[in-house]
Amino acid sequence: MKIAVFSTCHYDQEFLERFNTRHDLVFFEPALSLQNASLTKGFDATCIFVNDRADRELISLLHDNGVKLILLRCAGFNHVDLETATELGIKVFRVPAYSPEAVAEHAMAMILTLNRKTHKAYNRIREGNFSLEKLMGFNLHGCKVALIGTGKIGKAFYKILKGFGCKIIAFDPFPDAELESEGLQYGTLEEALCDAEIVSMHCPLTDATHHMINSITLKLFKKGAMLINTSRGGLVSTADVIEALKSGQLGYLGLDVYEQEGKLFFHDLSEDVIQDDLISRLISFPNVLITSHQGFFTREAMEQIASITFANADAFISGKNLENELVI
Ligand code: NAI
Repeated sequence: MKIAVFSTCHYDQEFLERFNTRHDLVFFEPALSLQNASLTKGFDATCIFVNDRADRELISLLHDNGVKLILLRCAGFNHVDLETATELGIKVFRVPAYSPEAVAEHAMAMILTLNRKTHKAYNRIREGNFSLEKLMGFNLHGCKVALIGTGKIGKAFYKILKGFGCKIIAFDPFPDAELESEGLQYGTLEEALCDAEIVSMHCPLTDATHHMINSITLKLFKKGAMLINTSRGGLVSTADVIEALKSGQLGYLGLDVYEQEGKLFFHDLSEDVIQDDLISRLISFPNVLITSHQGFFTREAMEQIASITFANADAFISGKNLENELVI
């Protein structure tokens, strides 16, 4: 099958080539967009990632170009218009889990960095500054953590938090029976957020979860609390968290995802003037840590993404093992 692969850096190409057994791959560095969708002409499939465009207009162009399959190299599919794909007979497959532990471990890395300020200590020591001024953190042991979403990543994160001795309260419309039997307490969103010292987001972005963290829900957090979002940028109202950081209601913010990340993340913009004023403001805070959607980025996850992507291509051809197909 001829597959046009978009949003590819050298590491994507390396892993995909390593796991490809029989398909004809052509790699394109930019994200799939209306401007470059014509490149898909003559391809059977297109393979895309989190920041590629796959709305109604784009999928209609794919259809006109003869594309029959969209292979997502990610779990989240909030950016894909499944209704249009179904209407036009284009199948969509995803990689539902590549390494939940990778994202969960990154969430913990963000908490530890923000809390114990290891990034600041690293820079200070290199400059011969051995002072402890302004490096004080807090114990995670006994700390109240709100876990929003207890699917694959939330579950992996729960196990890490438990190891740290945190008091965890979760919100998920579909509580996990195994976690409940292990003693995880579920509550309403308000109960989970109320007086939480750390809030960590692990639910998908949907109409119902868009801007779930906003000026109203932020008031429920304990003053000076930490918010970690490794899920999807749209879960959090950026303007509202900026206000909460300015007032001190939010004491720390760790973002691996950002509402407008499409134009920024995965690109080296070090010689450009950043046009996004909200991210520039966020970057200016001393208590904000931003990473560029790297939660998934481990060797193990890259291997899983590549191998499952080709298994999905094979499933499309054979019509068997269709469990990763997205159907509405
Ligand atoms: P999952 O589908 O296993 O779990 C999602 C959980 O969220 C489910 O238990 C679901 O019931 C729950 N949920 C749905 N609506 C909710 C709501 N309104 N409030 C609270 N919980 C709700 O998904 P998984 O694999 O755990 O991934 C979670 C999210 O992480 C993905 O949707 C994706 O956006 C993000 N992600 C981020 C990555 C990164 O590199 N930063 C990599 C992979 C995924």
